[in-house]
Amino acid sequence: MRATGFERIVVLTGAGISAESGLDTFRDEDGLWSQVDLEDVATPDGYARDPAYVLDFHNKLRAGLRRVDPNPAHAALAELERRHAGEVLVVTQNVDDLHERAGSGNLIHMHGELLKIRCQACGTVRTETGDVTTGSTCAACGQTGRLRPHVVWFHEMPMGMDEINAALARCDLFISIGTSGNVYPAAGFVADVRRAGRAHTVELNLEPSESASLFAERIHGPASDVVPAYVSRLLNGI
Ligand code: APR
Repeated sequence: MRATGFERIVVLTGAGISAESGLDTFRDEDGLWSQVDLEDVATPDGYARDPAYVLDFHNKLRAGLRRVDPNPAHAALAELERRHAGEVLVVTQNVDDLHERAGSGNLIHMHGELLKIRCQACGTVRTETGDVTTGSTCAACGQTGRLRPHVVWFHEMPMGMDEINAALARCDLFISIGTSGNVYPAAGFVADVRRAGRAHTVELNLEPSESASLFAERIHGPASDVVPAYVSRLLNGI
């Protein structure tokens, strides 16, 4: 195991880390929110208005996961977790499974996971790789038409926040990768870490995010370049 000069590392990732794997980001020029209205597909009201449309939107995203693979940025974070002598926690806003497939284990999906569905009748959450429709039946309680993606929509509470907040309060290195800094609470994490007063803060992003000025160190470029390079520096004590 390698000493990096840090003890507890928290890494926040957003859609930008998966862009070079071929998944759309949300707010880039050709991003998802330029293709569909997020109010229609990523809110409880949108689901209530037209559940079939929302389920179909998520079915298409879920199917898309089968056509992409982790990129060197995901692999570098998994290597950091394997080789770093201290703790590495990845907090992702992404609902894809690319961190898992790259080998990251200490991982929190604060916006949920596309490959999981939740029954609104009995609360059961289970893995689902195929399509879910309004005619789908819950394997646990047998009710039909009550299944929804286990993802966090706008106006819903993110997941794992107690664990995330505790990790932010005690980390000594906070790295933010591939996120625009537009959506809270994730956009506020760097301010939370600065308030705790003990961590070095680094932004690794294609371009400056909304919160760029809050980071002590900023390295801009494609994630598959800048993330492996930064992890290599950490592991070699540079
Ligand atoms: N390498 C690094 N960064 C990249 C790359 C790349 N190849 N391509 C794009 N980026 C950066 C963009 O510059 C931008 O700052 O990734 C960021 C993507 O921003 P968003 O599309 O806003 O995605 P994200 O920040 O993850 O959105 C947060 O908003 O819509 C909700 O729930 C959704 O989890 C999502 C949340």
